[in-house]
Amino acid sequence: MRVSKTGRGAAMRRDWDERAQKDAFHYVATWRKDWTRETFLESGDEEYVKVVEPVLEEFEFVPDGASMLEIGCGAGDLAMRLGELVGPSGFVIGVDRSADAIDIARSRTRAAGLEQVSFQQSSAEEFTASMKFDLAIARLVLVHQKDPTAVVRAVAKVVRSGGTVAFYEPDLTRGAFRSSPYVPILHKVADWMGRLFEKELPHHDVGTRLVEQFYRAGLPRPRLISHAPVLTGDDLLRFQWLVDILETLRPKLIREGIITEDEFPSEGLAEQLQAAVLEAHSQVIFPSTFGVWAKII
Ligand SMILES: C[S@@+](CC[C@H](N)C(=O)[O-])C[C@H]1O[C@@H](n2cnc3c(N)ncnc32)[C@H](O)[C@@H]1O
Repeated sequence: MRVSKTGRGAAMRRDWDERAQKDAFHYVATWRKDWTRETFLESGDEEYVKVVEPVLEEFEFVPDGASMLEIGCGAGDLAMRLGELVGPSGFVIGVDRSADAIDIARSRTRAAGLEQVSFQQSSAEEFTASMKFDLAIARLVLVHQKDPTAVVRAVAKVVRSGGTVAFYEPDLTRGAFRSSPYVPILHKVADWMGRLFEKELPHHDVGTRLVEQFYRAGLPRPRLISHAPVLTGDDLLRFQWLVDILETLRPKLIREGIITEDEFPSEGLAEQLQAAVLEAHSQVIFPSTFGVWAKII
């Protein structure tokens, strides 16, 4: 079903087009040195390698020739990775409700020559297929939902019996950031973001409640794996990444009254954060991301 181009439908579409670009850019972790928008979009692989691949192994999932679906594919990072895994005898369909995201994903996939990967514009809830998939996955999608259980159900519905349904979500709760010894400036920034996520996202804590989501959706009890980057202060880019997210959130942080324009940090925050961590000889744990998986009976 097509989304209405007028009224509320069009406004929501615009909002999601904007969000999709920002989300895909900022929420997929990467620590590459040659960091540009393009290379950033092409990466996001560290968490994929640490979370997705081990679980495929644990489930003895043979990707070669498999059919896979990614819901909420954004700019197509994961769909392209999965396309490489399934090889030319398999296929991957990426679905996203943002037309802009689908356009970006299509052109990147074409440039990479991955003919086994295609894309379709739809919401998770409205997506239908004439077949069932060996694997259906959604990464960094549930946290944006008003009704995450509905999306879990919709994704699981298109998986064949014996196939795998998987989600991958960050822990956005306050307290997910840790530093020992404690680095106050780092927690101040993390706390601003945490407060915004609590206000803005109806289920900001869904990453920590994935077992409950599977239960609510009537799915088997899942298995879980987690990954949390740990910093010692050596890599400025990791702090820059955090500061860039903060910059993206700036208008909302101010609008929600979490900080004022004057309180917003000036230039050099990444360097300040790094210096504070180095000075404290701190071990900093970034928020975990969770991979959650079950076989459909
Ligand atoms: C944070 S991005 C993640 C992109 C991609 N999964 C990745 O890991 O690289 C979230 C994407 O999910 C899409 N999205 C959110 N809710 C959706 C829904 N209910 N149905 C389809 N797409 C959705 C957004 O448009 C956005 O492109």
